[in-house]
Amino acid sequence: MDGTGTSVTVGLLGLGTVGSGVARILLDQAERISRRSGRRVDVKWALVRDPERPRPGPLPFERITTDVGQILDDPEVTIIVEVMGGIRPTLDYLLEALAKGKDVVTANKALLAEHGTELFAQARRFGRSITFEASVAGGIPIVQAIGQGLAANQVQGLAAIVNGTCNFILTAMTRDGLPYAQALAKAQELGYAEADPTLDVDGTDTAHKLAILAQLAFGATVVTSQIPRQGIDRLLLADIAYATELGYAVKLLALAKLSSAGLELRVAPTLVRRGTPLAEVSGPYNAVRVVGDAVGDTFFYGQGAGSLPTASAVVADIIDVVIGRAGLSFRAMNLWSENGSSPRLASSEQVRSRYYNRFMIADRPGVIAAISRVLGDHGISIASLIQHDPGDDSPPDSPVPLVLLTHLAVEAHLIAALREIDRLDVVHPPSICLGVEE
Ligand code: NAP
Ligand code: HSE
Repeated sequence: MDGTGTSVTVGLLGLGTVGSGVARILLDQAERISRRSGRRVDVKWALVRDPERPRPGPLPFERITTDVGQILDDPEVTIIVEVMGGIRPTLDYLLEALAKGKDVVTANKALLAEHGTELFAQARRFGRSITFEASVAGGIPIVQAIGQGLAANQVQGLAAIVNGTCNFILTAMTRDGLPYAQALAKAQELGYAEADPTLDVDGTDTAHKLAILAQLAFGATVVTSQIPRQGIDRLLLADIAYATELGYAVKLLALAKLSSAGLELRVAPTLVRRGTPLAEVSGPYNAVRVVGDAVGDTFFYGQGAGSLPTASAVVADIIDVVIGRAGLSFRAMNLWSENGSSPRLASSEQVRSRYYNRFMIADRPGVIAAISRVLGDHGISIASLIQHDPGDDSPPDSPVPLVLLTHLAVEAHLIAALREIDRLDVVHPPSICLGVEE
């Protein structure tokens, strides 16, 4: 980064959950930050939407502005920390900041996932850097770990819990039997959720993070729409109870596997074998399992959301910019390069897994036989099956759940079978289908 003298001036775009955490660390730990970066780091401005909102945070009122020009046109500001979120006008602000010679630190996974190529091209054009440690897995330094610590490896696969809100909800449903809506409200209250929490629960936020991980680990430039994704919003408490009965926890996973068939990417609630490290990650915690060809299995764990854990990653990036490491890494890693060669994506014909399926069926003779016939016609074999007696109190003709676990099956075959099963007049669609990770 440019600039001389003893202090570096930062402009914050956003002073919400993450922004106020960043301001707090920079102000409360000013001495520690300046010792580690060799310069004092000052926050001069913070951009907000609503200047009247009471802000108990550490920044004095006169440094809060609604005028982005005041920040982008200020020559003293050399680092823009973008923690406002969203795509527009954020993208325009960052393109302008880079053009004005400022380095960018961002926590905005949606923006990187959708506009990484454009942003990184702009940074290269103007000789600036973009750092984004907080965009995946909050406080866990996974971007550095994959981009630098594991640089000797070809990553072969990863499995990650990277949405704190969903993991918090699933944990609250599993441990406390909390209904989905109550668990979501609590996650929002604790500052884990996105401004629009649909992005969390429908899997979009996890897909954004997987797009970034795919870039880091495989050099794959993918946009979110290319990643098959399923959220936790259609799960029932009953699915979690059945999974527990079968010996599994339900986790929203980001999965990537590199094989001769190509790169398989997916986001889906998945049954994870109890007792494995991923199954035991609870609350807002995140974890990333990375398998490299030299290092083998690695596991990274920590808080994936919330004010200070996320700010921890943002401030680490600011320090990297100040000491010049960000610029070096930015050039060496050459991410979202326009001339990069992206691996081809595997098709669902090439994806194999075991699957959990829940059907709501009429409690009548011959229904299980009809379902297993369709599965058999598609070459899918059943490993186990659960149907509980609904009891005498259950209203007549009300549908009952039938759960079955398959042996290894080709995803495309299972999808075709489920389409057929959902058309049977004894089945109440939609049926639920989740992958299984042992
Ligand atoms: P937030 O609490 O909603 O804060 C957003 C801040 O940006 C607020 O101060 C808001 O102003 C300001 N802002 C938003 N749009 C603006 C606009 N158009 N013009 C001016 N100011 C604007 O969001 P957050 O949770 O801190 O998240 C910020 C970013 O970090 C997002 O990209 C998010 O995905 C990412 N992130 C969040 C977490 C987390 O745990 N929360 C973790 C990792 C990454 P007002 O205060 O006036 O509304
Ligand atoms: N809403 C996100 C989550 C914030 O819950 O994980 C961290 O990226």
